Amino acid sequence: MQVKKAVVPVAGLGTRFLPATKVIPKEMLTVVDRPTIQYIVEEVVASGIKEVVLVTASGKNAIEDHFDYSFELESFLAQKGKLDLLKEVRHISRLIDVVSVRQKEPLGLGHAVKVTREVIGNQPFAVSLGDDLVDAATPCVYQMLQVFDRYQESVVAVQEVPPDQVDRYGIIEGEEVEDGVFRVHRMVEKPAVGTTRSNLAVIGRYILRPEIFDCLDRTLPGVGGEIQLTDAMDILRNERGLYAYRFKGKRFDAGDKLGYLKATVNYALSHSELGGSFAEYLRKIVSSLD
Ligand code: UTP
Repeated sequence: MQVKKAVVPVAGLGTRFLPATKVIPKEMLTVVDRPTIQYIVEEVVASGIKEVVLVTASGKNAIEDHFDYSFELESFLAQKGKLDLLKEVRHISRLIDVVSVRQKEPLGLGHAVKVTREVIGNQPFAVSLGDDLVDAATPCVYQMLQVFDRYQESVVAVQEVPPDQVDRYGIIEGEEVEDGVFRVHRMVEKPAVGTTRSNLAVIGRYILRPEIFDCLDRTLPGVGGEIQLTDAMDILRNERGLYAYRFKGKRFDAGDKLGYLKATVNYALSHSELGGSFAEYLRKIVSSLD
């Protein structure tokens, strides 16, 4: 079974970033020179996926517009001979086919995935969360597709976190079946420190088999009335199986202010035009702190 579509849920309210996100969707906040959503879509495209299904809500039109063709802008840039900018703008609108599905109420990540059932159909699919930026030599989704190819079961990306921080994450417990690949035995949402021996935390990249939709139908609203994707994945694990993959790369939680700043510094340092002078600037700041 080949993965051809990626679901990118962007219907959340982004409350951790208020007031910045009162009008601007958090996925449109810029990291160096691109909105975070563009990093996510570029990773999906670089992984060989041909179609993105955005789960949107009211007030999120800017995201769809960002990937749309803009006749006025392209004609203007062509007329003015601004060819570099024209190339950049064209690159975005030609990246990928984007289909949008509305989530009428923010009833949780599980619910956001559930509303894509009609467009996904009976195919495995990827889910990438706009909050999680992964800087990797091999795109994280591509790495996960390799694992899916081998096991043909759903895969969730995990990273090791300090044991005293497990209570901030969804944690998986399992047995390592090959280097970095775990057959999941248990998923625990935010376990109290000391109650699990695992420090493998779930991050926002998944490859899911279509059976997840039946599991979502049987998932009752949990904390805050939200339908949790983790709860549905636990049913899937129990009935079919689930693998966790310790991806190679650096992950940033860009939905959180500190994570967003770290992502900005990381991508600025590796930027082809800005990297050198930004590093010099940081060195000066650091030496002035000594
Ligand atoms: P988050 O909980 O991190 O996003 O969900 P949020 O709710 O927008 O942010 P805060 O906590 O209020 O600051 C992870 C991803 O799932 C999407 C979000 O848009 C985000 O990309 N999501 C979440 C939905 O699409 N629908 C939902 O009902 C909830």
